[in-house]
Amino acid sequence: PYPFYTKMLQDHPAYFLKERNTWIISKHEHVQFILKSPMFIREQSRLEAEPVVMDPPRWRNINELVQDWMLFRDPPTHTRLRSHVAYAFTPKTLEQSKPRIRSIAENLAADMLKETNPEVIHDFAFPLPVMVIADMLGVPQEDRNIFKRWSNSLARLLDVTFLSEEQLDEGDLAAAEIRDYFRQQVRERQKNPKEDIISEIIHVENKEHLLSEEELINNCILLLVAGHETTVNLIGNGMKLFIEHPESYKLLHHQPELIPSAVEEILRYESPVQFTNRTAGEDILLGDTLIRRGQEVFVSLGAANRDPAVFSDPHHFDITRKKNRHLSFAAGPHFCIGAPLARLEAITAFQVLLKQYPALRFSGPTPIWRNQILFRGLEALHVKM
Ligand code: HEM
Repeated sequence: PYPFYTKMLQDHPAYFLKERNTWIISKHEHVQFILKSPMFIREQSRLEAEPVVMDPPRWRNINELVQDWMLFRDPPTHTRLRSHVAYAFTPKTLEQSKPRIRSIAENLAADMLKETNPEVIHDFAFPLPVMVIADMLGVPQEDRNIFKRWSNSLARLLDVTFLSEEQLDEGDLAAAEIRDYFRQQVRERQKNPKEDIISEIIHVENKEHLLSEEELINNCILLLVAGHETTVNLIGNGMKLFIEHPESYKLLHHQPELIPSAVEEILRYESPVQFTNRTAGEDILLGDTLIRRGQEVFVSLGAANRDPAVFSDPHHFDITRKKNRHLSFAAGPHFCIGAPLARLEAITAFQVLLKQYPALRFSGPTPIWRNQILFRGLEALHVKM
């Protein structure tokens, strides 16, 4: 698997794409260094850099949405946005959502059992994270379907390098609708706070005055977008790996306490997010490679996760792997804020599925990967008990 990554790691750990003035970096040590270093910056959003979206009036809503996302900002703005959201996104919030996550997973799995030809992505992995985050944000039950559609159109924006104009138009419409929707939700909670993350963020805001209303709205939307497709992929990729490695699935049956370590191995072996990017803020020597100020750097999380310098037998799927230092949630200041939630969702999902599906095999067409570069996930996965 991943022969291209193996070749990159062996022969071209820093590969220069001249026509794009861009580096592709694959060594674990270097990827980690770049993600942690303030010399590599974010505040040149890819949307602005891409000629296809240089038409701000046409994609105004996308531009306004993503320019506030902590994901694309550097300190001090990044620190301000992130610390505010982190106030609401605490271990306590997570603990409180545990029973809801379990009941959502159990209901979805039970419905899937009734299907003659269940399809894990559509019937289970896709709805689970969107229902969980909608629940945490306090979105009413009846709005869940439209939420799924928005999330779908917006997640593609993260893969912006490869978007068509039609997809950008669709994303722009979704951005406009979801921002209006959240504006209304925020204003309602300003009058009548509820027990949800939005109310919690507003509560902190009233004391700290850190965010504008638009920043608050846009970063709530980021929680949905950043946490949806990524978690779908983690669950879907895990199920595929379990079918391909029945011995691991069997072992988990007897030792369910290994599920958390299996989740880490799925994250490493089939990283849901394959890369991220930064821009060199100054001339930097990385090993013996000189990266010039202004050059773009793509760091390959997927390749770094298979670097033999860090992982013994990297192409072996080993759910008992110790000290699994994968970079699937990145590292440094942008380390995934939703990592504990994603882990909890995946652990719960596999606990529930293991119980209801003691043995699995593929049924129907061979699973195919979605045609994307940023995200690694399946189009569909038909299973049989
Ligand atoms: C950031 C991966 C789930 C919210 C990131 C980054 C990665 C990542 C690689 C860093 C990107 C960069 O540095 O350029 C994942 C994966 C997930 C997952 C693999 C699931 C398996 C979630 C969930 C949420 C979430 C469930 C929230 C509900 C965020 C946010 C950021 C982020 C807000 C931006 C953090 C910052 O810029 O400081 N994620 N994520 N993610 N993630 Fe996740």
